Amino acid sequence: MHCMDETLARQLAAWDRTLVWHPFTQMAEYEPLIIERAEGCTLIDIHGRRYLDGVSSLWCNVHGHRHPRIDEAIRRQLQQVAHVTLLGVSNPTTIRLARRLVELAPPGLNHVFFSDDGATAVEAALKMAFQYWRQRTPPQPGKKLYVALGDAYHGDTLGSVSVGGVERFHAMFRPLLFETIRLPAPNPYRPPPGVDAADLARHSLQQLEAVLAEHHHRIAAMVIEPLVQAAAGMIVHPPGYLRGVRELTRRWGVLLIADEVAVGMGRTGKMFACQHEEVSPDFLCLAKGLTGGYLPLAATLTTDEVWQAFLGTYAESKTFFHGHTYAGNPLGAAAALATLEVFEEERTLQRLGPKMARLAEHLRRIAQLEHVGDVRQCGFLAGIELVRDRTTKEPYPWAERRGWRVCDHARAEGVLLRPLGNVIVIMPPLAITLEELDRIAGAVERGIVAATRDG
Ligand SMILES: Cc1ncc(COP(=O)(O)O)c(C=O)c1O
Repeated sequence: MHCMDETLARQLAAWDRTLVWHPFTQMAEYEPLIIERAEGCTLIDIHGRRYLDGVSSLWCNVHGHRHPRIDEAIRRQLQQVAHVTLLGVSNPTTIRLARRLVELAPPGLNHVFFSDDGATAVEAALKMAFQYWRQRTPPQPGKKLYVALGDAYHGDTLGSVSVGGVERFHAMFRPLLFETIRLPAPNPYRPPPGVDAADLARHSLQQLEAVLAEHHHRIAAMVIEPLVQAAAGMIVHPPGYLRGVRELTRRWGVLLIADEVAVGMGRTGKMFACQHEEVSPDFLCLAKGLTGGYLPLAATLTTDEVWQAFLGTYAESKTFFHGHTYAGNPLGAAAALATLEVFEEERTLQRLGPKMARLAEHLRRIAQLEHVGDVRQCGFLAGIELVRDRTTKEPYPWAERRGWRVCDHARAEGVLLRPLGNVIVIMPPLAITLEELDRIAGAVERGIVAATRDG
């Protein structure tokens, strides 16, 4: 087994602690974990230790690491050109990707604006929606507010933070943010007092309709994570909610931005989450799994209606003045095209059925544990919510780091996870085998037992 010289490993760890500022990481407490290479769904650190990738390298890996088809597509693209700007210029690979995305997306999404990350995909949609209302015929410049859900997460740029609602991440930046109308998210585990879980979709849609009826003339768009609010703790919305949101936003003349950065690219069992409820949004935001988890690339798809409002002579200044240097870069586009081809060649979605069923079996067992309040699954993603008391649903104080304690335990067993507060996330690459999935679930189960033994 190849393994790095210990002196070099120590040096790298020291540099990592002091030079690299890791995102979402308390650097005063950071303990380096340095991954040097990967094989399939296994990550290997500089000491040669192996970890199953239980959260798809932050929800983006799809077909496993170092997939020969995707590796080869990137190598082939490298022999042509690594980067071409999209600002007034194009390249064959990115054009082909746009065409493929339009073929696969829900009907009506015929135009693709490329950027490089999930946050930028959402940021572009927010700005396009704003500009659209100013340029359409007749213009409605009063429409400049956004509706978003409680605990929403759409990325970390200021626009996407403005529509975000995770208190612990976003409260700090509130003075910098634009106004957003926030509606409570429909959370079946914690429904509002007096509302039955079975009635939750209807109740939440009534709340939305009340807001739209009163403020629609001021609202540019509503932004939603379709089916599952991921960073909120894998909150799975009740069936029919997404469809209802689409019907109401259409009825009240509000654009709908579907942020499928986490749930798109097969994660829910269909290529896009919106397809479960036959919803065509006005904007569809994709990133993460778009390149199979290989390279930064994002796409914001939109409709003819929106596109038309931006057409005119140069002098009319209807142009969308927004762009990123590496937007739609050809290496990323090559990885994305190969990722989509692998979906077909390996029948990834067809083969996901038994894996989703096995995940459900594991969750049924884990749900019996004393401090598991709720288990949630949508397709091939799952959240397990730990609580101090199952009867009262009393949460553990976040400072107790219960979620992290479970993940630390799993790491010692060779399974890499990252929690969302008290919610343990299981979200492996779609390519994971049943045997590997069993190992992940086993490590989670033992981790929960160990981390909640003291009550
Ligand atoms: C739903 C959703 N939108 C946007 C983002 C932001 O994506 P990125 O980190 O690529 O900017 C995320 C990231 O987790 C996400 O889950």
